[in-house]
Amino acid sequence: MQLSKYPLITYKETPVDAELTSHQLMLRAGLIKKLASGLFSWMPIGLKVLRKIEHIVREEMDRSGAYEVSMPAIQPADLWQETGRWEAYGDLLLKMEDRQGRSFCFGPTHEEVITDIVRNELKTYRQMPVNFYQIQTKFRDEIRPRFGVMRAREFLMKDAYSFHLDQPSLDLEYENMGATYNTIFTRLGLDFRKVRADSGEIGGSVSHEYHVLADSGEDEIGYCDEEDYAANVEMIEGNTAPNGGKLSFTRGIEVGHIFQLGDKYSKSMNCTVLNDKGDSIYPLMGCYGIGISRIMASSIEQNHDESGIIWPEPLAPFQIIIVALNKNTEDTTLTKSRKIYHQLKESGYEVLLDDRNERAGVKFADADLLGIPKRLIVSERGLDNQTIELNFRDGKNKIDVPFEQLVDYLEKLDV
Ligand SMILES: Nc1ncnc2c1ncn2[C@@H]1O[C@H](COP(=O)(O)OP(=O)(O)OP(=O)(O)O)[C@@H](O)[C@H]1O
Ligand SMILES: [Mg+2]
Repeated sequence: MQLSKYPLITYKETPVDAELTSHQLMLRAGLIKKLASGLFSWMPIGLKVLRKIEHIVREEMDRSGAYEVSMPAIQPADLWQETGRWEAYGDLLLKMEDRQGRSFCFGPTHEEVITDIVRNELKTYRQMPVNFYQIQTKFRDEIRPRFGVMRAREFLMKDAYSFHLDQPSLDLEYENMGATYNTIFTRLGLDFRKVRADSGEIGGSVSHEYHVLADSGEDEIGYCDEEDYAANVEMIEGNTAPNGGKLSFTRGIEVGHIFQLGDKYSKSMNCTVLNDKGDSIYPLMGCYGIGISRIMASSIEQNHDESGIIWPEPLAPFQIIIVALNKNTEDTTLTKSRKIYHQLKESGYEVLLDDRNERAGVKFADADLLGIPKRLIVSERGLDNQTIELNFRDGKNKIDVPFEQLVDYLEKLDV
């Protein structure tokens, strides 16, 4: 991508109505635009990052054996009345009517829809266990939308729903999803922790949350490393871990949630299958969510400095930015930069070329703000020495690489 033709608009000033660093940086770097409270447009670079997150989540969900589906965002009220959630879900549910006066909601989650599909389509034990997932836009009419895409009203979620004949099968898939989540959040480069979200009572529902550790997080987590125990403080009674160990506390952002639902939905929606003995049973369900758009904000909370974002490689919208220190369109620095740009693109890199007629200071500030991991600077001095300056957004070091060795050098860095 060449910045001279790219619709990038960045801001020096910190937006007044954004409290959280990630929100400020996402607005300043032009990743998102606010439309209304809790509603954001994804601009080209922001969308590129969102797709990277989606891609990793999709790859690992496919690998886990789940099947991707796509369900409507708009859901008929009757389904929600069957489970009692038309009322119970409260004001988070955005309700609407069509021209015939039939009621619908914009889906905040999809247990009802998937259970409706399964009760109509799956009849016997041979079709289970099964896990369906989607990556889709949700709407929740949050009482206090804030922090940008961290707590939005419209947001992107990966949601999965599994169906089982018995508890051991549900336990197995719950473990499988737990392992998949570990892989996903590790690949995304997040510093995270799995925490208990269930009350721990006998008969209580089993549930775990995945939290990205950040001081700005809305949740407080109590943990005890000796006992390998961590739980959302909402769930902790007293000041010690289950075996009396001392608790430490930290803050987190919930990016994922896995839940054993049991037969709550299959029963209330009369979803049955025949087991291998010919008995009609209510399948047990699990559900597994990941906040795709929230992950982007969480990653920025963990990876930034006073100058801007510092993308970890897997999320970076571009791997390399080439800063041409040209003063006008005729400069040799620009000609050389273009050559390197095409060469790197051919070698498979995602490259951004800053070929604007801007001052070096403006270009460096934007490069810092955008957070692209590797920066190549093409200057007059470099041209004289036949070298290009390579430095890293995380500030580790800086090196002059001879032009003809550049591609080899970059390749070696990646292995
Ligand atoms: N308003 C929101 N904006 C962005 N992401 C959200 C929002 N609400 C939920 N998510 C994401 O979707 C995931 C799955 O949804 P879930 O129903 O578990 O959310 P939740 O527990 O209600 O979230 P929270 O406690 O933060 O309100 C969450 O773990 C979170 O990452
Ligand atoms: Mg949750």
